[in-house]
Amino acid sequence: IKGTKGKKLQELKDSINKIKNCELKENSTNIVFSDGNPNAKIMIIGEAPGVNEDLEGVPFIGRAGELLDKMLLSINLDRDNVYISNIINFRPPENRNPTEDEITRYLPYLIKHIEIISPQILILLGSTALNTIIGKEETISDVRGKWINKKIGNCNTAVIVSFHPSFLMRQ
Ligand code: URA
Repeated sequence: IKGTKGKKLQELKDSINKIKNCELKENSTNIVFSDGNPNAKIMIIGEAPGVNEDLEGVPFIGRAGELLDKMLLSINLDRDNVYISNIINFRPPENRNPTEDEITRYLPYLIKHIEIISPQILILLGSTALNTIIGKEETISDVRGKWINKKIGNCNTAVIVSFHPSFLMRQ
C-alpha cells in the first residue's frame, strides 16, 4: 500500500517489532501484523496468532482462518474487502491465552492500528477481543448481533461482536 497510510502501518509494525523483554516475541518466529486491504471499511480483530500464523507471519491462515474465510464468503466478502489483525501480534507459547499484562502491553499498538485503518465497522471475534475493546461485563451471547458505537483512540466506529471461529469449530 502506498501513501501515508502505508507509511504509518510500516512504522507501527516496526515499533511492535522493537518490543523488548516480551516472552511472546522471544518465543515466536514472525510478527503477525495484518492481512487484507488497509483501505477496507471493515476491520476484523481476532485474539492471537497460532502455529501456522507464526510460521507465515499472516493472521488467520490455519483452520480457524479457513472457517473465517468461509464466514466472510457467505456474506460476499473476502480478504480484498476486509482488513484483519489480532489483539496480540506474536504467538503465545503452546497457544496459551495471552495474559492481562500482555494484552495491556499490546493495546496501545492496537488502538494506533485502528486509528490508522479508521474502519467504519469493527468486527470483534471472541471474548478476548470483546473484553479488551468493549469491557468484561458482557458475554459474546449478550452482545452478539448488536451494534455498539464506540470511540477507539480518535476513531469513531460501529462495533459488532461474533463468536471466534476456533470456538465454533469446537462446537
Ligand atoms: N486465531 C486468532 O485469533 N488469530 C489468528 O490469527 C489465528 C487464529
